[in-house]
Amino acid sequence: MDGSQGHLLFNHFTAGAKLTVTVGSALTVTESRGILALRILHVAAEIYPLVKTGGLADVVAALPPALAARGLDTRILVPGMPGILNGVVGLKRVMRFGPAFGAAVINLRLGHMPDSGLPVYVIDAPFLYRRSGNPYLGPDGRDWHDNHRRFALLGWVAAHLASGELDRRWIPDLVHCHDWHAGLAPAYIAQSPVLPTATVFTIHNLAFHGLFPLDCHTDLGLLTSGAMQSGIEFHGQLSFMKAGLVHAKRINAVSPSYAREICAADAGWGLDGLLRDRGSDLSGILNGVDYRVWDPGSDPALAKNYSLHHLHGKKICKLKLQAELGFRPSTKTPLFAVVSRLTEQKGLDLLLGALPALLAEGGQLVLIGSGDPRIEAGFRAAAAAHPHSVSVYLGYDEPASHRITAAADILLVPSRFEPCGLTQLYALRYGTLPLVRRVGGLADTVVDITPETLEDGSANGFVFDQIDVAALATRIHQACALFKHRSIWKRIQQRGMAQDFSWDDSAARYEALYRSI
Ligand code: ADP
Ligand code: GLC
Repeated sequence: MDGSQGHLLFNHFTAGAKLTVTVGSALTVTESRGILALRILHVAAEIYPLVKTGGLADVVAALPPALAARGLDTRILVPGMPGILNGVVGLKRVMRFGPAFGAAVINLRLGHMPDSGLPVYVIDAPFLYRRSGNPYLGPDGRDWHDNHRRFALLGWVAAHLASGELDRRWIPDLVHCHDWHAGLAPAYIAQSPVLPTATVFTIHNLAFHGLFPLDCHTDLGLLTSGAMQSGIEFHGQLSFMKAGLVHAKRINAVSPSYAREICAADAGWGLDGLLRDRGSDLSGILNGVDYRVWDPGSDPALAKNYSLHHLHGKKICKLKLQAELGFRPSTKTPLFAVVSRLTEQKGLDLLLGALPALLAEGGQLVLIGSGDPRIEAGFRAAAAAHPHSVSVYLGYDEPASHRITAAADILLVPSRFEPCGLTQLYALRYGTLPLVRRVGGLADTVVDITPETLEDGSANGFVFDQIDVAALATRIHQACALFKHRSIWKRIQQRGMAQDFSWDDSAARYEALYRSI
């Protein structure tokens, strides 16, 4: 990249910081395998294990190292939430600036991830980010009132890293933005006529639009005079998701099926028209699994480790959990599990309806999750009514989610929609058969057990189609029937455990996407 392109591109931006640095001509370049490595900046609001509300954090922790392993010069940019400031190692200041977005002073720091060692830029803006608990919600369970500023700053810093104004030693060639939190980065980058930076926007969940009142537009520092002109107006509001979809050079969704589904009105959340218009720039790339974190052979959370050919440890995990939960310990009883946010998306109201069928089969259910108070109350009541066969933990507990995934025979994911879904992939590796609805990434990863798929060896779980209690109950019934056939069950378990959903293949697809721009 030519250094002259980095000269204070944004110094006319009134809502932002006054920067005092210009880019010199002697930029450093990174060499890898004899050729210049592409520099990729990932921009996201969460990263496992430091701040996590769902699968987005898992992806942001695992995809960048997989790209780095392919020789790409990859860094991550995240907001300085307490978990991130405490967890990123060796933070050093790169730039101090402000006032911007309501914060008097902002320090951009650079450190590295404790596990992967990947470089991470952290925006240390105490006024905006040093708030404990959920990264998006206040203690009252409502969005923080200044979320538009908090996440505009994330996009703004990404754009200024791209222009070279914040760190002249490392200037990304491509900025890869994840979900609405990073949606303004492509908009800020696109408003510069000279910035050559490519942008990719990944849709993890189109249901979350990042909506704000229209009059917040004046706080964002976008150069165009109004939301209409800057392309982020959505039915009388601002949408950060739409900003990403309008301005990124390429868009992708986290599974091929979801990429198709969101182009239709029933799954497009009002953005399907825009997505259809951008059809040639839209692709689907399936998420992967970080098998360093999800491996039953080495998982420190398990009562006993196990593997494809030594499944005995899985029985121990099950018996131990059953005893802990107050269930009758028995390997013959089918143990169903849910590890999930309890929201409309996940279809767990259907499971409440199908619970009598599950219990009538003599099944047990363990659930860990939190979310919608009505769904929480439903499961709490079920656990109170059936203390020896239903156990509900309403909360978030990472080690417990591993123990439950290992102990269970069947993991239930009856989602109404599912962009990718990771828990079914974790279940497969842990020899736990997923029972899912045929939608999004679930449809792309779970092959229903039928006489044909049993015959050709592709079966790895149970799939149902209709969003209704009866369809789910029927599949639960069939799962319990098949569970009695131990040798068939074991064959399917081993098939799932042997499947490779690692990031290698998906990272190669992302690299091809980057190189296509
Ligand atoms: P989503 O991102 O829509 O919530 P995913 O299946 O992609 O769904 O990812 C969910 C992630 O969150 C997985 O890593 C899963 O193990 C984890 N998870 C969900 N609920 C809990 C919970 N209550 N405790 C611990 N981990 C959870
Ligand atoms: C979203 C989706 C989920 C996906 C995850 C990671 O939260 O709901 O399906 O697996 O992002 O991409």
